[in-house]
Amino acid sequence: MANITRTIGLSLGADICWPLCFEGIMRQLNLKVSHAGDTIDFKVERVTIEPFNLRQPCKYDVVVDRLTHWYHTSREWIKKAILMDGLYVFNNPWAVQSMEKHTTYAAMMALGMPIPETFMVPPKAYADDLPDLKPTLGQYARLFDLEKLGAQMGYPLFIKPFDGGGWKGVTRITDAKTLHKAYDESGKLIMHMQKAVEPFDRFVRAIGFGPQTHLVRYDPAAPLHDRYTMDKGFAGPEDEQVLRDTVLTINAFFGWEFNSCESLRKDGVWHPIDFANPCPDSQVTSLHYHFPWLVKAYLKWSIYVAATKRPMRKNQDWEPYYAIAKKDLPYKDKLKAYGKLSRERLEADKFEEFSQKHLKPLDEAHWTFFGTDEAKAAIRKKVAALYPPHEVEPFTELFWKRVQAWRGDNKP
Ligand SMILES: Nc1ncnc2c1ncn2[C@@H]1O[C@H](COP(=O)(O)OP(=O)(O)OP(=O)(O)O)[C@@H](O)[C@H]1O
Ligand SMILES: [Mg+2]
Repeated sequence: MANITRTIGLSLGADICWPLCFEGIMRQLNLKVSHAGDTIDFKVERVTIEPFNLRQPCKYDVVVDRLTHWYHTSREWIKKAILMDGLYVFNNPWAVQSMEKHTTYAAMMALGMPIPETFMVPPKAYADDLPDLKPTLGQYARLFDLEKLGAQMGYPLFIKPFDGGGWKGVTRITDAKTLHKAYDESGKLIMHMQKAVEPFDRFVRAIGFGPQTHLVRYDPAAPLHDRYTMDKGFAGPEDEQVLRDTVLTINAFFGWEFNSCESLRKDGVWHPIDFANPCPDSQVTSLHYHFPWLVKAYLKWSIYVAATKRPMRKNQDWEPYYAIAKKDLPYKDKLKAYGKLSRERLEADKFEEFSQKHLKPLDEAHWTFFGTDEAKAAIRKKVAALYPPHEVEPFTELFWKRVQAWRGDNKP
């Protein structure tokens, strides 16, 4: 029987609101967990950026990483800490580094997911300093007929970067003329052409965090602060199961422990269109009503992993998924099997048991925190970073009101 402190590191960039809430709740909670004969408490620290010796030890048990996808010094520190010091990080940095939208489409197509028809096209332009470019293209690049591809796929379609994010370079194409224009303007980017899922009757973003899932009806046409709708009951239990199994399959397959999946429903079928979002949007300014759910998901999974010393899965093991894919089963049964396997990998049952046993005080502290001035100040700070001065108060009030609505609906 020992008293042990587990240290959770937050590796952050421009994040403002969720870390303040995470830290505030942990401070109020002052959680102690009896696990495997030990009494465990938790310390939260922000990871700093500085020179490091590859052999220096690491003081963290778990790191929540929001930087790997673009800040490479931190990414390399994280990789060394996993390899050398047994650190647990979400998300898996190698999986973030090597999998982009394109790979995720291909892998999930292989598992039978109804991803819309997608083509990759070579880029319109190239960097000037590629010495082998001329002989390569001269010998092997085939002239292709963009219009023919467009006609073959049928309009409307979307043209978008194979590794995209943040709607950059995404264009809806309705005819050959707009297709040529969008391709010409895409420059050096490598683009996908993807059949539009239209008309769709539902658009859902499913957030997965460890084994936890949360479904939000999404309205892509709304202004940023209204895209995550507050609608309830937009999908029946069967649809919900499909969406939850889908996001957990993607996440467990790729080693992403927090990620979101966008799916559109057409003729009763959910078509995932964008699910390479490891490190998804966590800002109150877009999530508003859903923000407390996400903060709690961060907390619960971090505490669970730190307390139980869950071992980090350093590399992927895809064969069990392919083994299911090979079976002579309808896709809906395969998806259930992928979901089951993914829940096992994400220790869904153990996590649930742990939460029931140890995290009830967290539910209380979290709910209370989101009614405090400290929570409101965190929201205001985020709003002030994004909005012009005259909009800071009205938008702070708007997001605060929606967070209070969440509290009203989710009293512990
Ligand atoms: N195949 C498709 N069918 C219907 N709509 C699509 C399709 N592909 C993209 N869209 C629309 O374009 C938007 C942006 O596309 P996508 O999500 O693939 O790009 P992104 O750059 O990853 O966006 P973000 O990072 O903001 O989620 C989607 O939210 C959706 O509204
Ligand atoms: Mg998207």
